[in-house]
Amino acid sequence: MKIAVFSAQPYDRRFLDEALQRRHADGAVTLQYHAEALSLESVALAQGCGAVCVFVNDVLDAAVLDALAGQGVRAVLLRCAGFNNVDAAAAARLGLFVARVPAYSPEAVAEFTLALVLTLNRNTHRAYARVREGNFALDGLLGSNLHGKTVGLIGLGKIGVAAARIFHGFGCRVLGHDPAPLPGYAQFGATVALPELLAQSDIVSLHCPLLPGTRHMIAAAALASMKPGAMLVNTSRGGLVDACAVIDALKSRHLGALAIDVYEQESELFFHDHSADIIADDVFQRLLTFPNVLVTGHQGFFTIEAMREIAVTTFGNLADHLAGRPCPNVVAGTV
Ligand code: NAI
Repeated sequence: MKIAVFSAQPYDRRFLDEALQRRHADGAVTLQYHAEALSLESVALAQGCGAVCVFVNDVLDAAVLDALAGQGVRAVLLRCAGFNNVDAAAAARLGLFVARVPAYSPEAVAEFTLALVLTLNRNTHRAYARVREGNFALDGLLGSNLHGKTVGLIGLGKIGVAAARIFHGFGCRVLGHDPAPLPGYAQFGATVALPELLAQSDIVSLHCPLLPGTRHMIAAAALASMKPGAMLVNTSRGGLVDACAVIDALKSRHLGALAIDVYEQESELFFHDHSADIIADDVFQRLLTFPNVLVTGHQGFFTIEAMREIAVTTFGNLADHLAGRPCPNVVAGTV
């Protein structure tokens, strides 16, 4: 079987080739790598393939899924946990198998969340640049202790709980909000209603999925109800946050700091080198001008351990599909 791998970067090749070699050394499965993202324009690249392997910014709406099915594709293998980019109802209608990698390394994202918080909190991003210029002045680098601060985690699933464990270890008071928290959370913090979490937290960190009901959950009203000077961290999905409202909150100095690894319009930018381009997104560019804003390009998942797990689970999902076995990672509503 041939698999068309979309949005393939050199690091995807490294880990997928490694896992393929281990599972299908007989050559029964071959991979066709495409740097292009999957969209209606690029869907023809999957011609002759039995499956596609895709990532967070590939488009799997009804039109693309229709085209894939029409070309004979039977399976969609997501190299990620989130599946907000898949029209699951259309996939079900077409009888497509869609499977994801639900937990490749919650610690990778949780640890990265801490990296962002500690960087912003202690201004190490600014110190790094200063010291290289021979400037050892401390003015402007004043931070605050994480110990004793209140951290509010929205979403207490695998990543939220891993983050709770780490913040708890730092001596933070942990508050969480989730309609269905994982049981493992209780030892690290209390569960509260969202308004209480927003009102009490020095740091608010998002770890819930992007769903119709969670889109722009952090907009003007939520920002206004946060503590003055609080930090907002989003390593989940860009669409959870209204970036324009965040800019207003930063300009009014109500929001004290922002760290984002995801951005609602990131598909135009992330995972590619745009250093020689003129970036047309004025909202994104405005965010980059604040000294108290830290932006990274969706790298929370990007560790050796997570990349290995993604590749191994992806081929495990494919094996379940080929054997007609029930697959634990199938996206709800699809085959
Ligand atoms: P998970 O499925 O284990 O947990 C998500 C939790 O969010 C669940 O407990 C669910 O009940 C909760 N939730 C749903 N709606 C909510 C709401 N309205 N308010 C509060 N909580 C709500 O998912 P996991 O593995 O913890 O991942 C969380 C998110 O992190 C993913 O949906 C994905 O968007 C993002 N992610 C980001 C990565 C990155 O590289 N930056 C990598 C992997 C995931």
